[in-house]
Amino acid sequence: MTMALKSVLITGCSAGGIGSALVEAFQKQNMLVFATARDPYKMSHLKEIPNVKLLTLEPTSVTSVRAAVDIVAAQTGGTLDYLVNNAGQTIIMPTLDFDIETAKGMYEINVWGMVRVTQAFAPLVIEAKGTIANINSIGTHVNTPWMGEFTKPTPVAVAMLNDALGLYAGSKAAANAITETLRLEMAPFDVKVVNIVTGAISTNILSNGVNFELPRTSRYKNIEKEISARARGEDGTPRMEPSLFAEKVVGDILRGAKRHIWRGGYASIVRYTSYWFPFSLAVSEARSCSIACMGDLLMATRNTCLSKELA
Ligand SMILES: NC(=O)c1ccc[n+]([C@@H]2O[C@H](COP(=O)([O-])OP(=O)(O)OC[C@H]3O[C@@H](n4cnc5c(N)ncnc54)[C@H](OP(=O)(O)O)[C@@H]3O)[C@@H](O)[C@H]2O)c1
Repeated sequence: MTMALKSVLITGCSAGGIGSALVEAFQKQNMLVFATARDPYKMSHLKEIPNVKLLTLEPTSVTSVRAAVDIVAAQTGGTLDYLVNNAGQTIIMPTLDFDIETAKGMYEINVWGMVRVTQAFAPLVIEAKGTIANINSIGTHVNTPWMGEFTKPTPVAVAMLNDALGLYAGSKAAANAITETLRLEMAPFDVKVVNIVTGAISTNILSNGVNFELPRTSRYKNIEKEISARARGEDGTPRMEPSLFAEKVVGDILRGAKRHIWRGGYASIVRYTSYWFPFSLAVSEARSCSIACMGDLLMATRNTCLSKELA
């Protein structure tokens, strides 16, 4: 039984992603890290790191989650100090064209996977009076329609609309609302629930866009090239390195963050503009791309925020 070190379990730790970077950042803080993924081979790069234990965990499977809980409980004596729900999927597709069964699969991991893992590990986290941290998205705060204009690099389009991902944003909005409510429900047990409002990070998340194709009947066929570039992540969006993101987030969590952590490319600009400007204004600006002064202001803010975020 390993008792001395604080423990953390992270879902979705495949190489190249946020989860893997979080494993290394927590490990550097002298913690016992349970790195999990549905495919353990995708975590081979972590296997020699001291105090890192690799576990197969598929958040969409009851039996897989239960098996992981038993292993962790046996190794920690029934406690877990930090649970990080990170596993998730992004699929880019206009809402009108999205195959609903495919979308359900995305919700299965982004919403129900997160809930299932949280329910199963809650007794261990309560025992530790620990912290649950959910990796959510700035997409929740800029839910905008897919539109051709945002492929033009106009200030507001770039600043406000680059994360317009329709049903993905919907799944993360659900996860966001659940996270916010869970915070209240866990407070009586002295468990913190932290919402990590994640900006653009350079990971594998857009790899499903490699073979992107709109249905033949799509009304967006005339901008397929632009949507396809976005789906592959080739849209010119500056993205933060996962290691830098992880270092900042782990610092925030271990310093005792209680509510929200805004980190990653565009996180600051989205945070501040979502307070300052009504959503309807952003949408109308995206349509007309003509409110120059607001555009200049946003561009200046964006540049300042981005240079700080990505440094
Ligand atoms: N990258 C960004 O810009 C960004 C922005 C906002 C929020 N996020 C969130 O950050 C989290 C991590 O994403 P990432 O950017 O690091 O992407 P990533 O590199 O693709 O990692 C995603 C992880 O989730 C796992 N996963 C995906 N679908 C799954 C499923 N159906 N069942 C079980 N595991 C599944 C993946 O496993 P496999 O490798 O086996 O597919 C992988 O381990 C996600 O929740 C994502 O929504 C990312």
